[in-house]
Amino acid sequence: MSRAAVVCGLGAWVPPTVVTNHDLAERLDTTDEWIRTRTGIARRHVIERGQATSDLAVEAGRRALASASDNGTDDDHEVDLVVLATSTPDRPCPGTAPTVAARLGLGAVAAFDVQAVCTGFVYALATAAAMLSAGTARRALVIGADTFSTILDPEDRTTRAIFGDGAGAVVLRSGQAHEPGALLGFDLGSDGTGEDLITVRAGGSRQRSTAEQVHAADHFFTMAGRAVFTQAVLNMSKSAQTLIDRVGWSESGVDRVVAHQANVRILRAVGEQLGLADEQMVIHLDRVGNTVAGSIPLALADAVTAGDLRPGQRVLLTGFGGGLTWGSTALIWPDLTLPAPHAPTLRKEQA
Ligand code: UT7
Repeated sequence: MSRAAVVCGLGAWVPPTVVTNHDLAERLDTTDEWIRTRTGIARRHVIERGQATSDLAVEAGRRALASASDNGTDDDHEVDLVVLATSTPDRPCPGTAPTVAARLGLGAVAAFDVQAVCTGFVYALATAAAMLSAGTARRALVIGADTFSTILDPEDRTTRAIFGDGAGAVVLRSGQAHEPGALLGFDLGSDGTGEDLITVRAGGSRQRSTAEQVHAADHFFTMAGRAVFTQAVLNMSKSAQTLIDRVGWSESGVDRVVAHQANVRILRAVGEQLGLADEQMVIHLDRVGNTVAGSIPLALADAVTAGDLRPGQRVLLTGFGGGLTWGSTALIWPDLTLPAPHAPTLRKEQA
């Protein structure tokens, strides 16, 4: 029987500080109405000064580990791999995953970052799944965490309206492809000719950090919104369809799509391309915005908590982001509980 990576734990976290559309409208030339109608977002969460991505990653990771031990059928709960998807690491060097592993008390495990912006979580899942299948690791903690509030231009009304901070995580164990929770396959892709569409120009080896660049605001995140919109719909739809065909779900259908939460209009357009009803597209961005690598696991945690994602459903995950990059995976949703304390801000009824 073929070996596969099986999802056995899930956790998520957003920082407590909320920024509503009305808060933004007090400081920038925007309105609640514009943001809601153009993006579907009503609020987002941000970290406070002094906090960093690892703080969110640790909270989400801790919850995913607790979920895995609550749901586990075996005694072996020892994680031997941490993969952190982020494009806002605590520091440009070193990676943040070893810090997260140490703070979670996981010992001398393998730990590294994956940088694929909003597709990061899917790339991190693929990386960890391959390592489990190869026998390089037996149990992995895969986290998506970002704090884009730290790289946005405070004066940019468009990006400030969209992005929020947050983290989500899953635990993967080595198991069999027929088990609920098994990741059934991947489709991954990139197009580096689009590197300028979603970027932070300065602070890398091409444009080093200098006072002039800080003055020119080149260390802030920029996005060519309209072009990215078109590419997001095109590539998530194509990648999702490729994966559906690959795992043989074309006939029997998909129950839920958890797509990268960039814009509600993008989610609806992807659903339309795939011939799915709006209710089949999981939507979480209204309360947290675009949380980059945290977006897919945060949406998963919210849907499970709300009872919208149930054991036995066919779930497709698809992401798109800077690079450009995109990727999809699929699984039959396993019977998972999310142990308390769960991030209270994720619950629909409290939004
Ligand atoms: O996570 C990675 C993937 N990211 C995405 O997928 C994001 C994709 N892009 C989008 O979601 C949308 O393109 C945006 C939400 C970023 C922008 O929406 P849009 O409908 O594409 O608007 P636009 O950029 O074409 O701008 C339309 C107008 C512009 O004004 P003019 O030039 O027509 O006078 C913008 O300046 O809306 C203006 N605008 C705003 N107005 C009020 C842009 N942001 C705002 C704002 N409030 N916050």
